[in-house]
Amino acid sequence: MSSAIVVGLCFGDEGKARVVDYLAKDFDVGCRWNGGPNAGHTIIVGQQKYVTHLLPATVLYSNKLSIIGPGVAIDLAVLERDLIETGAGSLGNNVIIDKNCPMIEQKHKDADTGDNPLSKKIGTTGRGVGPCFADQARRSGTRYKDLVDEPAQADTSAIIHHAMKRGKSVLFEGAQGTLLDNIHGTYPFVTSCSTLAGSVYSSMGVNPSYISDVYGVFKAYTTRVGNGPFPTELSHQPLTEKLRMAGGEYGATTGRPRRIGWLDLVELKRACQLNNVTKLVMTKADVLSGMPAFFVCEAYEEGFPAYAEVPGWSGDISNIRHYAGFPYNLRKYIARIEDFTGVPIVLISTGPERQQICRGA
Ligand code: GDP
Ligand code: IMO
Ligand code: MG
Repeated sequence: MSSAIVVGLCFGDEGKARVVDYLAKDFDVGCRWNGGPNAGHTIIVGQQKYVTHLLPATVLYSNKLSIIGPGVAIDLAVLERDLIETGAGSLGNNVIIDKNCPMIEQKHKDADTGDNPLSKKIGTTGRGVGPCFADQARRSGTRYKDLVDEPAQADTSAIIHHAMKRGKSVLFEGAQGTLLDNIHGTYPFVTSCSTLAGSVYSSMGVNPSYISDVYGVFKAYTTRVGNGPFPTELSHQPLTEKLRMAGGEYGATTGRPRRIGWLDLVELKRACQLNNVTKLVMTKADVLSGMPAFFVCEAYEEGFPAYAEVPGWSGDISNIRHYAGFPYNLRKYIARIEDFTGVPIVLISTGPERQQICRGA
């Protein structure tokens, strides 16, 4: 089995972790390669909710190796909490941290609060990730190996290289989303690193020929936490509230209410190109259930989104496990997105729980 990347195609929080959790059974190793504790990745198993910030979602499977690569900014207190809350316990056989991870220090967190005009303007998560990566670029930062004994200093690039060579498969779990990419996103309202699938190769230093699929995750509508452009954002307050309630749209890291808008197919198609997405995954289809109609942006006219109306569907779809069982208008919506992007939707998530997911046509 070859390796794959899971990447967010919008402004983050697309449901990447729930997708990794679903796909994980077919992979041997899970790996986070970018971002830091600004990420909040939710997995729900039965009644139990887990939110990881640094560990890949594969950590819930005790028979998988979970790796944090050298491109991830580490806050030791957050790592500790992740280990406890996921039941992983301690670092060791199943969880490995790269020796070159840049360390978030108190000064980075102090520099990333609402008192800092730049952090405030962007609406950062305040976790110190931007200042930490800035220090790394300035070559003045501390790395994990500066803090731990030699035996704990892992070279995760080499570990993954040898695992792949032996035929093991690795699932790379992205943080943030394409529109928050430091270069290709809505700069300056972006995060401080690359969020694209391609950054797996540079950040992990792994051989691209072992990676065959890029899963691009998006919601059936769009959300954004923090400030910055959001052309398809809803201005209708009652509808925003309704969707926010139905979708539980509050940030997994900061608890801030997420801004809500329609799906932007123009940006989604661009995100597919930027990441070379081979398979799409749509999440939160269930949240739109019961809307008589909604909208998608299919073009821009004089800088403004031009919308197409989409006929809605009704009923609880969260327990449907076969594509053919979906309402006709949901299947039409899926086909419309596939036609526009030219990429197949291979999975449709219909609820937050591990089992609430269905294969595409
Ligand atoms: P990530 O950062 O991309 O891993 O996503 P988050 O965990 O920040 O946010 C996704 C949220 O949506 C979490 O609360 C998930 O439990 C939830 N979620 C994921 N997929 C679905 C879905 O298909 N339907 C519903 N209703 N919730 C979902
Ligand atoms: P996951 O991995 C959603 C946003 C912040 C802010 C901008 C910069 O859970 O999808 P930062 O703290 O990175 O300097 O903030 O990026 N942001 C996220 N939004 N999901 C995330 O991660 C995010 N990580 C950062 O809200 O707008
Ligand atoms: Mg999140």
